Amino acid sequence: MPLVTTTEMFKKAYAGGYAVGAFNVNNMEMIQAIVEAANECRSPVILQVSAGARKYANPVYLRHLVAAAAETTDIPIAMHLDHGADYEICKDCIDIGFTSVMIDASSKPWEENIALTKKVVEYAHAHGVVVEAELGKLAGIEDDVKVEAHDAMFTSPDEVEEFTARTGIDSLAIAIGTSHGAYKFKPGQDPKLRIDILEEIGRRLPGFPIVLHGASSVPQEQVAIVNEFGGSMPNAIGIPESELRKAAKLAVCKINIDSDLRVAFTAAVRKHLAENPSHFDPRQYLGDARANMKAMVKHKIIDVLGSANKA
Ligand code: G3H
Ligand code: 13P
Ligand code: ZN
Repeated sequence: MPLVTTTEMFKKAYAGGYAVGAFNVNNMEMIQAIVEAANECRSPVILQVSAGARKYANPVYLRHLVAAAAETTDIPIAMHLDHGADYEICKDCIDIGFTSVMIDASSKPWEENIALTKKVVEYAHAHGVVVEAELGKLAGIEDDVKVEAHDAMFTSPDEVEEFTARTGIDSLAIAIGTSHGAYKFKPGQDPKLRIDILEEIGRRLPGFPIVLHGASSVPQEQVAIVNEFGGSMPNAIGIPESELRKAAKLAVCKINIDSDLRVAFTAAVRKHLAENPSHFDPRQYLGDARANMKAMVKHKIIDVLGSANKA
């Protein structure tokens, strides 16, 4: 089935009280893991490409790999640019066939964020592509840029109506306590999302799809495997899945997950090579990595997002 935009997906997700997973992809095995998992769960899915992924793999390769994956299934798949930094990156992705882009001007002053976002929306909509933008600032690491927790800023509900009306965006990423990366909180902390802010934004923007970035939960059993087989990931915890489930039942229609998939992939590679020191065929350890990542995606779809059987 050809790639689709997120418009229909989000309409159904909003009405149905669930969210669609947006999973980051960097190579063929990751794309296969996600699409096979979504296909088996009969779930819609968003494959997203970051600036880091563009640098690593070349967006044209990723575009064709995603097209190949879409040919193997009839579930709805959207291809999304994650954290587009400027107009040119968004335009490039639209021109090569992405169906959704994010313009991330959230660190810019208010009027600049609006002007740049609006310019992207005009080009995107003229080409049948949808746009996500962001208000607020998440803590954590993103494209090697570290935002310290004290610089993070929750989204102000007072700004969302003007921002969406003036830009014409299709979905809005907000900051309510999530953060990027695998080291979000220290063990013993009890991270909670500002569900009250989400509810207020939902009241201000009825029916409008909200996006959560930085939604990895840092699965402790996978970190333990990494560390058992030679890794040294620090002890850290992520966003509790119970908090994400609450958000998915409200206005949140897209939940971004990258770090948890990376950890699952790496745990399997480390385990495979430690247990099979004579192996040198990449298909052997990448095959295990793909299978473990697929299991992680299925878990997210079934137990966190609630998007199984919604394709
Ligand atoms: O939000 C950022 C994503 O996790 C992607 O990170 O640029 O290292 O691929 P990356
Ligand atoms: P995590 O680092 O929590 O997986 O967040 C990923 C993300 O927001 C990609 O845009
Ligand atoms: Zn993000």
